[in-house]
Amino acid sequence: MSKINIAIDGPAAAGKSTIAKLVAQHFNMIYIDTGAMYRAITLYYIEQETEDFSQLVQNIDLRIVLQNGQRVILNDVDVSERIRENDVTEKVSHVASQEPVRTFLVEEQQKLAQEKNVVMDGRDVGTTVLPDAELKVYMIASVEERALRRLKDNELRGIESDLESLKIDIERRDQFDMNREISPLVKAEDAISIDTTGLSIDEVTNEIINLAKVKMV
Ligand code: CDP
Ligand code: CDP
Repeated sequence: MSKINIAIDGPAAAGKSTIAKLVAQHFNMIYIDTGAMYRAITLYYIEQETEDFSQLVQNIDLRIVLQNGQRVILNDVDVSERIRENDVTEKVSHVASQEPVRTFLVEEQQKLAQEKNVVMDGRDVGTTVLPDAELKVYMIASVEERALRRLKDNELRGIESDLESLKIDIERRDQFDMNREISPLVKAEDAISIDTTGLSIDEVTNEIINLAKVKMV
């Protein structure tokens, strides 16, 4: 079987990371969550209180450790859980729209994928980070279902939230991500759309595994 890269993009809480992880496990591929990297820079932005994004990415000490799932290390501290909290979620789209931030992270992400064999999820993986990925998926789901899924996630993580605010946050972030100037969230022309509304995790995972098998021969 030949090595391939798989790009999974789509709006917030569509199921990208859950399914990307399972697909990666199935094929013994490496899973890379690009959203976590934008979240880590956002945490640093909150700590540094600066709008000078060139300086911010020059000074940041960010490490992505890819053994046993992805861990995000910021200034020697594992912030993998901290970056899911509400203050980061609120500001991440603003930070992710800044040119120095995108240039810095896209380069890092391309390095991680240069040997192939990665499943990478985000907003611009199929369009900008890995335009030559052998398989591209654009994952969507209704906003109601996405908000419900995120509510359950937050309950499990002990993060306080309510359905209506989650819906508002998801819609606000989608609009911002779709309308920003640099690498907006958009389906790559050659991506396959999957609407996961009403589908189980297994159903979506199997669909992508079957699509990938065709590309690996
Ligand atoms: O998991 P969730 O859908 O909440 O978002 P995420 O994947 O953690 O991404 C958080 C934010 O980072 C998104 O709303 C985008 O603003 C930004 N992002 C991006 O601009 N490009 C990517 N490749 C990944 C995330
Ligand atoms: O990465 P993204 O923000 O697109 O979504 P996620 O964090 O993978 O998924 C959000 C939640 O939806 C997770 O708790 C998944 O278990 C759940 N999910 C689901 O219930 N059904 C699916 N078909 C996909 C995800």
